[in-house]
Order: sequence, then C-alpha cells, then structure tokens
Amino acid sequence: MLNKVEYINSLNTNIFEFLKNYTQIGVLVDENTKLHCYSLIKNFLPPHFLIEIQSGEENKHLETCVLVWQKMTDFQFDRKAVLLNLGGGVIGDLGGFCASTYKRGIDFYQMPTTLLSQVDASVGGKLGVDFQQFKNHIGVFNIPKNVLIYPDFIKTLSFRELRSGYAEVLKHCLIADKEEWKSVTQKTIQEQNWSKIIPHSVKIKSNVVEQDPKESGLRKILNFGHTIGHAVESYFLQQGLNKKLLHGEAIAIGMIAEAYLSHLKCGLTLEEVNEISSYFLMTYGKVSISDEELSQMYEYMLQDKKNEGKSVRFALLPKIGDCLFDIEANRVEIEKSMKYYQKL
Ligand SMILES: NC(=O)c1ccc[n+]([C@@H]2O[C@H](COP(=O)([O-])OP(=O)(O)OC[C@H]3O[C@@H](n4cnc5c(N)ncnc54)[C@H](O)[C@@H]3O)[C@@H](O)[C@H]2O)c1
Ligand SMILES: [Zn+2]
Repeated sequence: MLNKVEYINSLNTNIFEFLKNYTQIGVLVDENTKLHCYSLIKNFLPPHFLIEIQSGEENKHLETCVLVWQKMTDFQFDRKAVLLNLGGGVIGDLGGFCASTYKRGIDFYQMPTTLLSQVDASVGGKLGVDFQQFKNHIGVFNIPKNVLIYPDFIKTLSFRELRSGYAEVLKHCLIADKEEWKSVTQKTIQEQNWSKIIPHSVKIKSNVVEQDPKESGLRKILNFGHTIGHAVESYFLQQGLNKKLLHGEAIAIGMIAEAYLSHLKCGLTLEEVNEISSYFLMTYGKVSISDEELSQMYEYMLQDKKNEGKSVRFALLPKIGDCLFDIEANRVEIEKSMKYYQKL
C-alpha cells in the first residue's frame, strides 16, 4: 500500500476538514509539541480530545500505550474514532501503534513535527515501542491514512535535534541521489531551504519503501551508516546521559566509517570518502573514541538484530548516489573503518 504524504504551506481550518468524518477525534502530543505545535493548530481543529504523554525515548514503551488506550476508552472512542499524532518519531511510532491496536485498529494520521520524523519516521509504516532494553521490539507495520507535513514546525527545534534529522536527509542523498547530495552539500545546515529539501528526502524514502515494504531486500539500503552508527549510539547511551549522542549524531559517525568501509569493500573512491567525511565533520564535529571504546562498540555490532549468524552485514555505497545491501565485512575491515574515523 502506498504511503500518502501531503505538504502544508499555511495552517487553516481546511486542512483538518477530513477529521469531521470521524465520531471522535484524539490529538496526541507531548509537552513540547503541545507548547510549540498544538498551539499553532488548535483553533483550526474541529472539537477534539487532547491526549498528552511525556516526551522522550524513555517513555516509548507499553506503559505509555496503556495511558493512551485508557484515555481513548475514557473518551468512549469507537471504531470510527481517529487519532492525529502530533509530534516527533516517538509520538508517531507510539501513537500509530496504539491506534493500530485499539479495537483492532482505528484510523490515524501522522503530523510529524521534527525533521527526523518528517523525512524518516512518518514514512514507511513501521510502528511500535521499545521493550526492556530492546528498541522497537514490539510493533506492527501499518500505513497511516495520511502524513501531513508542515515544514515550519521544525523552526522551534533545538539545533541538535535539527542536525540529528539532517543526518537522515544526507543519508537519503548518499544512497540514492548524487545530484541532490551535490546541491545540499553546497550549503551549511543553517542555509538550507527546508520546504524544498524535505519533500525530496521523503520521496527517496517512499520510493525505496514502496518497492520493498517489509524489508526483505532493497529497504535495507536505508540502513547505510546505521550498523556502525547504532553501535556508537548504544555504547554512548550506556555511558550515561551526559555522553549520550542523538540518533543522527551517531549515524553521522556511522556514515563516515561506512563510507570508508564502502571504499574497502565495493569501490567507493577515496576522493568520495573524503568528500563525505569533510561535510559530516564540518556539520557534526568530531567525537573522540578510544581504542578500548572501539572494541566495545564492535561487540555491540555483533548483537545487531540485522545480522544473520556471526557475520556483520552492511549497506554500502559503490559510489555516491548508489547503495548495495547484505555485504558482509569481517572484524579487521570493520575496525579499519572505525579507525579511519578515529584518526580524522
Ligand atoms: N518508524 C520509523 O520508520 C522510524 C524511523 C526513524 C526513527 N524512528 C523513531 O523515531 C524516534 C526519534 O524521533 P525524533 O527524533 O523525532 O524524536 P522525538 O519524538 O523524541 O522528538 C525529539 C524531541 O523534540 C521535541 N519536539 C518535537 N517536535 C518539536 C518541535 N516542533 N519544536 C520543539 N520541540 C519539538 C520532542 O518533544 C522531543 O523532546 C525514535 O524512537 C526512533 O526509533 C522511527
Ligand atoms: Zn536513522
């Protein structure tokens, strides 16, 4: 099924006309999207119930779902009720999951408010929550009725959150669109024209997902930078909150290392590797990683859920704008790639 996406240039009552077809309307927010986003749309919405949860990945779990299901039950939502998920990837993944399971599924709409959720999380139908220490462990595939993207929402994001989402924009260019990579990297993050970049980035992800909705093959190219990136992210998360990297910040490191791995395994030229690493370093700075930390990150990689058996598999770039998947690399090759980052 196709993921529908609609872009909104200005907020008004017409954009929420479709909600009037439902018996009850729920709007799911966290305290930040209530303050910065709900306040911008609340006067344009038909009568509705506001459901608020606490922000943060640490709240993306089943207990929060219980709160949402409880609210929907208290408000007597029937099967013709609807949920509008107004927030970042946490709200979208969790709200979509709650809607998909409430009374065997009610309609839901995504209204993503972070750059990351606009270009990545709201597209592709993956919904769910974390369970114990496992990320996105419980969930379903289900497509929202529509994804409503209002690029101006990102104006109130912190710089780090904006930059985190930007890593996925850069990833989409690297795996599928050399021309876009060239044009985006002419500018710094501060200079970007988001209302142009966001639709372009969404289109790349949608194209991939449409060809392989359940990730049996091609969709794996969206994991470029993520095998090493997830290991970096998990390692720093375990070191405590003050060392924590945002997802995109870790993926940026992963993309530099995996660009070098692409050079070792499938012919990405050193010139292109340098081009990639210079832009990422300029945008994200350098995180220092010791030899000891490197080997611990390697252990995390072995636990990565994408691996079959003991070998570690990667999505890698034969050139900028093109990506291959299921490429196995051994410990020596992976460590060489991480050392490449370390020595930059
Ligand atoms: N379903 C998918 O395919 C998919 C893909 C990528 C990521 N994800 C998931 O997305 C989540 C990360 O998403 P995220 O980065 O959007 O995180 P998030 O939802 O936690 O949002 C980040 C922070 O920004 C705040 N915020 C949101 N919109 C704001 C705005 N407009 N102005 C000011 N503050 C705002 C939030 O309250 C939160 O504190 C992860 O749980 C990840 O697993 C899912
Ligand atoms: Zn990602």
